[in-house]
Amino acid sequence: MARCTAPSSPRFEHHDGSVVGIGMATPRLSWTIAEADGGFVQTAYEVEVTRSAGPRVFTVETADQVLVPWPDAPLGSRDVAGVRVRVRHTGDWSPWSPPSTVEAGLLSPADWTASFVSPRTLAGLQTPAPVLRGRCTLPAAAVGRLRLTAHGVYEARLNGHRVGDEVLAPGWTSYPHRLRYQTHDVTDLLRAGDNELEVVLGNGWFRGRLGFLGERGLYGDRLALLAQLEVTDADGERHVVGTDKTWTATESRVLADDLYDGQRTDLRRPRWGGDGPADPVDVVPVDLGVLVAPDGPPVRVTQTVPAVAVTRSPSGATILDFGQVLVGWVRLRVGGLPAGTEVRVRHAEVLDGGELGTRPLRTARATDTYLVAGGEEEVLEPALTFHGFRYAEVSGAGELSRADADALVIGSDLRRTGWFSCSEPTLERFHDNVVWGLRGNTVDVPTDCPQRDERLGWTGDIQVFSPTAAFLFDVGGFLTSWLADLAADQRPDGSVPFVVPDVLHDPAPTAAAWGDAAAVVPWVLYERTGDVGILARQLSSMRGWVDRLDSLAGESRLWSGGFQFGDWLDPSAPPDDPFAAKTAPDVVATAHLIRSADLVARAAEVLGRDEAAEHYRTVAAAVREAFAREYVTAGGRLLSDAPTAYAMALQWDLLPTPGQRAGAQRRLADLVRASGFHIDTGFVGTPLVTDALVGGGDLDVAYRLLLQTSCPSWLYPVTMGATTVWERWDSLLPDGSINPGEMTSFNHYALGAVADWLHRVVAGLAPGAPGYRRLLVEPRPHEALTSAAARHVTPYGEASVAWERDGEVLSVDVVVPVGADAVVRLPGQDELTVGHGSHRWVVPDPCREQPHRTPRTVRDVFDDLALWTEVVDATAAAGVAADETAVAKRLTPFLDFPAGDLVERLFAHGRREGHDSLVRQLQPLLAP
Ligand code: BGC
Repeated sequence: MARCTAPSSPRFEHHDGSVVGIGMATPRLSWTIAEADGGFVQTAYEVEVTRSAGPRVFTVETADQVLVPWPDAPLGSRDVAGVRVRVRHTGDWSPWSPPSTVEAGLLSPADWTASFVSPRTLAGLQTPAPVLRGRCTLPAAAVGRLRLTAHGVYEARLNGHRVGDEVLAPGWTSYPHRLRYQTHDVTDLLRAGDNELEVVLGNGWFRGRLGFLGERGLYGDRLALLAQLEVTDADGERHVVGTDKTWTATESRVLADDLYDGQRTDLRRPRWGGDGPADPVDVVPVDLGVLVAPDGPPVRVTQTVPAVAVTRSPSGATILDFGQVLVGWVRLRVGGLPAGTEVRVRHAEVLDGGELGTRPLRTARATDTYLVAGGEEEVLEPALTFHGFRYAEVSGAGELSRADADALVIGSDLRRTGWFSCSEPTLERFHDNVVWGLRGNTVDVPTDCPQRDERLGWTGDIQVFSPTAAFLFDVGGFLTSWLADLAADQRPDGSVPFVVPDVLHDPAPTAAAWGDAAAVVPWVLYERTGDVGILARQLSSMRGWVDRLDSLAGESRLWSGGFQFGDWLDPSAPPDDPFAAKTAPDVVATAHLIRSADLVARAAEVLGRDEAAEHYRTVAAAVREAFAREYVTAGGRLLSDAPTAYAMALQWDLLPTPGQRAGAQRRLADLVRASGFHIDTGFVGTPLVTDALVGGGDLDVAYRLLLQTSCPSWLYPVTMGATTVWERWDSLLPDGSINPGEMTSFNHYALGAVADWLHRVVAGLAPGAPGYRRLLVEPRPHEALTSAAARHVTPYGEASVAWERDGEVLSVDVVVPVGADAVVRLPGQDELTVGHGSHRWVVPDPCREQPHRTPRTVRDVFDDLALWTEVVDATAAAGVAADETAVAKRLTPFLDFPAGDLVERLFAHGRREGHDSLVRQLQPLLAP
């Protein structure tokens, strides 16, 4: 009889711990089991649900423990249930888990008695942010709940106390279809008798500037508030009050606020409006059917980062450096300034000639200003805006020291679930940069960037980044919500907007790799969290997208022509033409149609929708055939002859014969050699290329690409001091100047999507079954690293893989959580399957020193790092070619030629300067 510890307190859907105000009547449950005997396998669980009528216990015989169905009758609005679980193998039950509580929100529009209200004359586009105020008399509260949402963003105060710790609530959703409301437990803030609720409203996404076209007020021109306060007294009677026409509005001290432009605040005015003349409010009609409860965590202040330096710029400006590109705002402490003094804080991610580099912000002013009250000590901090920055220029504040300034980091308060470490510090820094990139681009919506006049939910960016995101943080609820917005904004013909929530309003948006987010992101969530429900909810959206592409492809079965972003930001595209990629947009398009059709077929299969599965399999097969006919030669060359084309073809099984696959594999590796091991892919190819190389046995080439440090490469930005992932491979040029393109962000996660490969392949921790119920442990050590490790809090608990090699042996430590098992493939060993617990293996190091082999071909010289470095250095020193890229370019036509001819081949162009010295230096190394 195998035993285990008590399960963890249950989770509901993708929420952690107890939840107040959940949006569904039958929330699914998950738990983890910290420890269990070796032979333990859960064979049954019991859920005890305690509601007003008392506890009921439900017994279910199954091994499932992730997102299992709600066992009891559905919850009604406001219903509360205490839930605990226990499990067993055979024999005795485990101890009960600690309980969690789930409380439903308002599940029907009819549950709202409050109405949206909007100030009648205040709160114009150019006037201060309003404070809305309501007063009511209430009995002593046994339980108090405040439900709130707004057209705009809000911060609320009840009886003088801040309600909750969310910022920029209610966040950003596709407002016409889905508007989130928050439920707060305000029992402790209420008092018997008179109560006062005050809410300041900012423009936020609803009415502020949005997008690069300079538009504002895209969702409407009136700010409005919906608030409902519900008090249950000691006798169990419910008293409900809410926003109605008795509310009033005054002006707050926020004179202007905008997410892009910043906030202007007059600290001489009372923050909450004081007793100035009160404006009546109008009740405004809003369809309450759009209200939804949150699926994931809110935006909060998640970290405080102190200034690391205060410096003077060449022009004499005071510059604060926070040492890290981040997203949030600056909190300044000032004192002794005359009342009315204007303090100005401007933000930027980089310096340009020692001054704030604001050109990349385009039209976003990113400036907070304060008119100080003149106190001994004043704290200057906005609340209705955010900026992406590392540096801030402060004027008007007098002398500042580091202790006077902090950066407050904001973002969706996602639970960290993934870590990576290794023996190469630059790679670790790159990984940290990926983490920061995610943190900055998850301010309620997965965005492209957080700083310029954009910050939109670009579908392509999260399409490529979602696997990485799902490893690093628990994005289950966050992306569930975003996918609901995607489906809501999808066109009736299945087209998917380029950005979600959609503010670009393209009439028929169909772009490969962008719209494919509709099919890819649900699948990634399923794969990484085990959530079958997300497939069920998104299936019609997924199908809609593929049906649309299928009809665009028509009888030819090729999706060609029309607008495409293609392999966006291929490094060879010029700064002003990011579309100009080497891979033809038509090839990218048809490849994505196949991939999405495959995923829809698989999703339908998981859901038991056999007919649909068969249909999409047939679509995929027909398009595959057309792709191969149109774009693949008999030997496996592709149109386009570019790494992204090969990477897609290899990863998505677009090559019909083994011969074509082998040919494509060889060609991909040679193209990487030809670039001198520099990255040569844009948004589409970048997440695929290392997997494609390793899949064909080119581990060395993949590592050479990964660890390249000159431009363009993943590590080049690290060598330039980057603390986030950049939008462009060369957002900062090697001479330290800012890329002249008008689109140059220093915080874009897309090109960091290779981190998923670091986790899965370098460290070797991959999902082998949905939700990591089975781990696939297959580390691929390389001589470039002596160790690597990844850790991930799976839905079953923490899993980890850590390897270390010393030239003799490779030791591998693996932890498998209870409820999961692991298929383990170690270099040179037979595959095995192990159960939960800690495991250690010591096997011969696959990177043991090999006896040095004289290179036979020029390709062998490329592949021998030490020799290649000598060739490049000597060639550059002799002035024959400038750098690695130039040497590679000269030698690429001769990859199959004898290594001994290499020096002659370098001079194939005819000029002979430097020839003799190179012969002297290199020939002994190259000739047998
Ligand atoms: C964004 C990208 C986005 C792209 C569309 C840019 O302006 O910043 O990340 O995906 O437009 O290609």
